[in-house]
Amino acid sequence: MINALRGMKDLTFEESERFVHIVTTAIGIAKKYGYSYIETPILEETKLFRRSVGESSDIVGKEMYQFMDKGDNDVCMRPEGTAGVVRSFVQAKLDRRQNEKFKFYYYGPMFRYERPQKGRLREFHQFGCESFGEGSVYEDFTIIEMIGDIFKALGIGYKLQINSLGCPKCMPPYRENLISFLTECKDELCEDCNRRIDTNPIRVLDCKNEKCQSLLVNSPKLINNLCESCDNDFNKLTTLLQSANIDYEVDTNLVRGLDYYSKTAFEFVSDEIGSQSAIAGGGRYDKLVEFLDGKPTPAVGFALGIERIMELVQMPETSREGYYLGAMDAEAVDSLFPLASKKRATDKVTVEYGAKKLKAHLKGADKVNARYCAVIGEDEFRDGTIWVKDLVEKEEFTIAQSEF
Ligand code: HAM
Repeated sequence: MINALRGMKDLTFEESERFVHIVTTAIGIAKKYGYSYIETPILEETKLFRRSVGESSDIVGKEMYQFMDKGDNDVCMRPEGTAGVVRSFVQAKLDRRQNEKFKFYYYGPMFRYERPQKGRLREFHQFGCESFGEGSVYEDFTIIEMIGDIFKALGIGYKLQINSLGCPKCMPPYRENLISFLTECKDELCEDCNRRIDTNPIRVLDCKNEKCQSLLVNSPKLINNLCESCDNDFNKLTTLLQSANIDYEVDTNLVRGLDYYSKTAFEFVSDEIGSQSAIAGGGRYDKLVEFLDGKPTPAVGFALGIERIMELVQMPETSREGYYLGAMDAEAVDSLFPLASKKRATDKVTVEYGAKKLKAHLKGADKVNARYCAVIGEDEFRDGTIWVKDLVEKEEFTIAQSEF
């Protein structure tokens, strides 16, 4: 027997219903915020992710599904959606339409070769939004509000954590400061952190090692060293969140695992799904369009992890729906089809092709959760009628097939 690969999952029946429910709910809300659908390829040139997500990130360094294709191109299954959307934005020359705003939503599979565990898959699905051309912090707020709306519509509780990652003006001096601090306590930091001091010192801040965390309590905090513009924006964001009654906590160690962020960074976490608790994450990435050879364009976005949210979503009870059609004699089966096509204009219809006794048809209707069981028996076939039972109201009646 051939099984699915480790860390990859099939979704069927109730699970796939939940998946579709999450996606359609998110799409409905994204459309209300002015987003339109974008579809980009799953396979991209590897250098796209190296340049955007960043050489020093775990995603690029350890987790890429990368290979040489038959034409000797170095390609990679996308580990996330933002890079492809930005590539597409630049390729379509939308970056040249400087006074316009573009808002895109997408959903689909992402691939990261991580160690599979609860809540962590190698193929998982994201729903994401990317907003281009709006540099105002009002847009950061609006995106956070939109994610809150999605979780509210899905009936999910969350904690929102926010931070500012500064800009090219305040980040470099802070980085130097942090490197000096980290170098001084180098011997006490874990191996990973030691490696990161040179490659990506900011990532040291979210090391999960307890000893490292206890040392980092005294590290310099970027939030206290922001330039005026970043500081004003961050304060404005917190004011807007407060006035909208959106609870948040400032997490000065929230750095995100992707290198393209500046200014606002945020994560939505749930304490109901174990250690892989992030259900959505995002932030501002004002430099990324430029990194990918476009004209400077401010941008902000997020993605939510559909499988993690599936753990939290309760589906509304499904009520009986539509029609089950059956016949008791083989010669009557043909006459079910015109009735089915007429009904399918408005309802869900299941047709049973085998001739069966009434009791078997009632069982069949029950199995497909139909509201009505409609059967053509010997008398009905002769009279051109059909017997119908409403399985909710428990009423039965016989009507002309022409009036069905
Ligand atoms: P991310 O934080 O890497 O951000 O991923 C977003 C969400 O995807 C996470 O919060 C989590 O729910 C889910 N996720 C990530 N890895 C896995 C995994 N291995 N298994 C299951 N779920 C997972 C991004 O990907 C950015 N592109 C978000 C963004 C969009 N920033 C700006 N625009």
